[in-house]
Amino acid sequence: MGDAMEMDKRAIVELAARYVCPGRVNTFKLLGTQPPVMGRREGHYFWDLDGRRLFDVHINGGTFNLGHRNPEVIAALREAVERYDIGNHHFASGPRARLAETLARLSPGDLQYTVFAASGSEANDIAIKTARRATGRRKIVSAVGSYHGHTGLCLAAGDVQNASYFLSDGAPDEFVQVPFNDLAAMEEALAPGDAAAVLLETIPATLGFPMPTPGYLPGVKALCEKYGTLYVADEVQTGLGRTGDFWAVEGYGVEPDVLITGKGLSGGIYPMAAAILSARVGDWLFDNGWGHVSTFGGSEIGCHVAQTVLEIIERPGVLANAREMSDRLGAGLEALRQRHPFLLEVRRNGLVMGLRFDHEMGGAMMTAAGYEVGLWAFFAGFERSVLQFKPGLLIRREECEELLGLVDKAISLCEERREIGAAGR
Ligand SMILES: Cc1ncc(COP(=O)(O)O)c(C=O)c1O
Repeated sequence: MGDAMEMDKRAIVELAARYVCPGRVNTFKLLGTQPPVMGRREGHYFWDLDGRRLFDVHINGGTFNLGHRNPEVIAALREAVERYDIGNHHFASGPRARLAETLARLSPGDLQYTVFAASGSEANDIAIKTARRATGRRKIVSAVGSYHGHTGLCLAAGDVQNASYFLSDGAPDEFVQVPFNDLAAMEEALAPGDAAAVLLETIPATLGFPMPTPGYLPGVKALCEKYGTLYVADEVQTGLGRTGDFWAVEGYGVEPDVLITGKGLSGGIYPMAAAILSARVGDWLFDNGWGHVSTFGGSEIGCHVAQTVLEIIERPGVLANAREMSDRLGAGLEALRQRHPFLLEVRRNGLVMGLRFDHEMGGAMMTAAGYEVGLWAFFAGFERSVLQFKPGLLIRREECEELLGLVDKAISLCEERREIGAAGR
């Protein structure tokens, strides 16, 4: 059997196309780039097997929030495998209990119980089950263009096309979507008093990070209280310090009934996600101890890793760094916007950013151009004019300068291509 570390890129892409992900390989080709294959990885960078170094600001939606292969996270993993295995999910467990206590302490309002999951999707499914059980209602209201994962219930709560493709869209009166930032539409959906939960990404990632308008999220929370609906904050992409608050909802003054986390909780090393529930809505944990069962959810190795992740983010200066570097990058991006008409708008809350370009496929054009100049950033799937721009939490000043230089080069390349395209018409 060949060693995967020693295979060359072309062979890997061919095997992947044959056995794993033909559609994805093809999409990258259509975008005009070869599919990247990750080789070495370290800090903010990974190296494609063809040798190029890429500054990663896609970071898999926050998975590499603390950088690729953060040494402290790796040390925690090593320590964990010396002591633990996945554990038995039917038992009480030290690493699980300790991590849940830390999550309760770090979470807003009266969030108390953690139900562990192996993915953000599973955690969102837990939230939906919890809300339905707690309210006796079925309807879930989410935002048009939201993304909550690809398993059963959360798939139905997200983009309709993704769900209906697999005949997995829910009954139309069970999964209702309203435009983000539209309080009147939200009230219309909640007013009949039949909604179990509003499920909202605090800043919707796949929609290109449109920022919540002032008062929107607290307004939704007030409507939830008025109509007896629970508020579920999907913080899979926006939590864990990325906005400069520990959770993005906190910055908007909202205390959710359920908070969902994942991606970065893993330290990029061991899958880990969680639904954090208030005592009130978590009542089913008394009634029905096996109401949600997940063999790998809350693996003891993963809990030990996640504990270290939280300890790092809690350190003095880490959240302040996110805010400071955000301002620095914000100023630099604004200067680029002045010079480059192609860059129309910079959306920014901490290190959660979206760059909107003057072309309906502008974000996708930037993904391809970025790859050529050494920047890995991905466009927003439901708003392709926008490039998601998500630097890691521990970024330093000099790295911000390097990053801005790469963005400048990628935009220039897009502008050149547009000129050539226009001249050729
Ligand atoms: C906001 C949000 N929620 C949920 C998920 C699903 O997480 P996972 O891929 O771990 O199932 C994602 C994944 O991209 C996400 O961005």
